[in-house]
Parts: sequence; structure tokens; C-alpha cells
Amino acid sequence: MIAKRLANIKPSGVRKIFDLARKIENPINLSIGEPDFDIPEPLKREGIEWIQKGFNKYTPTQGIPELREKIKEYLEGKGVKAEEVMVTTGVTGGILLSCLTLVDPGDEIVIPDPYFVMYEYVVLLMGGIPVFVDTYPDFTLKKDSFRKAITEKTKMIIINSPNNPTGAVYSLEELKIVADIAKEHNLLVVSDDIYDKYLFETEHHHCMGQIYPKTLTLGGFSKSWAMTGWRLGFAAGPGEIIQQMTTLQQYSFTCAPSFAQKAAIKALDYDVSELIERYRRKRDLVYEGLRGKYTVQKPKGAFYIFPEAKGEDSWKFVEEAIENNLFIVPGSVFSKRNTHFRISFAASDEMLMKGIEILNRIA
Ligand SMILES: Cc1ncc(COP(=O)(O)O)c(C=O)c1O
Repeated sequence: MIAKRLANIKPSGVRKIFDLARKIENPINLSIGEPDFDIPEPLKREGIEWIQKGFNKYTPTQGIPELREKIKEYLEGKGVKAEEVMVTTGVTGGILLSCLTLVDPGDEIVIPDPYFVMYEYVVLLMGGIPVFVDTYPDFTLKKDSFRKAITEKTKMIIINSPNNPTGAVYSLEELKIVADIAKEHNLLVVSDDIYDKYLFETEHHHCMGQIYPKTLTLGGFSKSWAMTGWRLGFAAGPGEIIQQMTTLQQYSFTCAPSFAQKAAIKALDYDVSELIERYRRKRDLVYEGLRGKYTVQKPKGAFYIFPEAKGEDSWKFVEEAIENNLFIVPGSVFSKRNTHFRISFAASDEMLMKGIEILNRIA
């Protein structure tokens, strides 16, 4: 009964852990990929006001013009010039629509490993072939391994910086490696910049859209302004691609939530640097707390850290953590390797300290 295209599609391993944690009383849950703060008050009020004013109908498929204009300005402020911008239902919506638009059966899509889980499954769903480029142990992009991944079937490259699950932020030099290869082979690059505000070492976000015109930039409101449940994101890039994605949006999501689009206009002017500073301290707390007993890279961005698990099998290690009431995610959920685990430090300091204590105990 179920369509054949679903044969290789498995439920998300992150959800599995999350559902397990929900059944437990007082878990120390460091598996969640969303901010531990709520939407800032002025932005909530803005959303509520627009609901009360009756701004509750369908919006234009590609998003309300004033938000699209604002997103364009936001991107230009970052040095990203895009021909067209559309509003999507989360970056998730942008990933799905972009792959529907761009991936034919048999196309190879190059993805640095570790990677955000969704990329693999959406590519498979389209009949595409994910080709992973191993970035261990330091999670940087290396020219030789990237070059080896390219064949005549390569259609595009998907990168994500700041990165989920490693916390890596690609340097300009690393981005140039990708841009040079993409240019040489005339490839599109999809750049998932959803964590672009979560930078701990620098204020300036280097991203693909600044240096390579054939980039589809995906961005969103879930992480920077904690609007995960409001389902809002955007896609910006070559006009032809955005137009096709908009057509597909007509037959899928219709439009992004109306009131959320209004609040997002305010969000783009809302300074979150204090919140990011708090997350920098959380990053330091977790990194300093673990580096004695674990091999671990210091995250430069996002809100994840990706240490090496003890033993051969990250699932076994995570099971042991769960027996100790600590919920983390095995690395194999995000990788072809099964050697690491992901901690989300989007949690209270108290929770983080308890988590560190358990991890050091079971090390
Ligand atoms: C790298 C990355 N891209 C996209 C998403 C999806 O975000 P959204 O809530 O905007 O759909 C996530 C969420 O965890 C993510 O980590």
C-alpha cells in the first residue's frame, strides 16, 4: 500500500530519543534542537496583535511583500545578493521544496558528514543519491575529500554552517574550496544558514551566498528568535529556482503562517546578541566540563557539541547515558560513523551541569 519511494525512509533518530525522554519523569534532556528561551515578548505581542486585527487568511504564496523585502535587506546586510526571495514554512519547507525542484532520480548530492538528518532522507525521497564527504576529526572542509566526491552525476552540494550537529563554522577559505569546485562543475550550492546568529568566535557570518552566485540560501526564524512552532523560514537565490519552488508551494504548504510573517518583520530588527552571549557561556561550560575526559572539538557556533563516545558504538554509549537519566543523541543519526554523540546545550545551566556530571561519571 505504501509508496515505494518510502522504502528507505526511517523516522528521525532525534525524535526517537525525544519521545523516550518524554516518558520519563525529570529527564536531563540534552537532545532537543530548539532554544531554551521563548519568543521575545515584543515579537509575541506583534504576532498576537496581527491575529486580533484579523490577519488570519492565506497570504501570497511566496510570502507577504513587506517581509520578503525585509529579508532581502537582511541578506544584503550580510553581503548576500539574491535575485529572488520567498517565505517558507520553516527551513524544513525550504529544504523539501528545493530538493523537489532540483533533484532528479540518480542525481548525486554532495553533503559534508556529519549532517542535519533531513538532507539525507529528502534526497533519498526524490530518488537522489546522497554522497557524503567525511569531515572528521575536526569537522573542517578539506579540498581533496571534496574533489573525490564529485562525479559527472553530481547535481548540487548542501552545506550547513554553523553546523548541526558539530558546531563547526566554516571559514572563508573552506567556503572558497566549495565555491571553486562548484564553479568548476557548474553546481548549485544549497547553504542552510539557519544558525547564522549563533556565532561564538566572531560577529561576522561568512556564508556561501556572499561568494558564489549559484547559491540557494536557506534561513529561518526557529533558532534565532525561538519561533520553532510558528514554522517560518525563507529561501533566497536564483530567480528561476525560487519561482519553481513557489509553484510547488502552491500545491503543498500554500503559504507560511500569516501572523508569523508579520512578527518576523519585527524579528529581523530584534537584537538577540544578549541571548547569544548566554549561549556562548553555555558552550564554554559544556566544553570545559567535558574536555578532561572526552575528545571534543570546541563549537564555534550553533548550540551543539559533538564529542567522541566511549567505546566502539555510540548507540550503546547513549543507552548507558539514558539508563542514567541523560538523553543525548547517538552520532550515527547524523553520520555514517557511529563514534560520536550530540549534546544540545540549549538547556538551563543546571541541566547542563547535571549532564556533564553524568557523562564524566560514565566516561
Ligand atoms: C540545520 C538545520 N536546518 C533546518 C532545520 C529546520 O528548521 P525549521 O524549524 O526552520 O524547519 C533545523 C532544525 O533543527 C536544523 O538544525
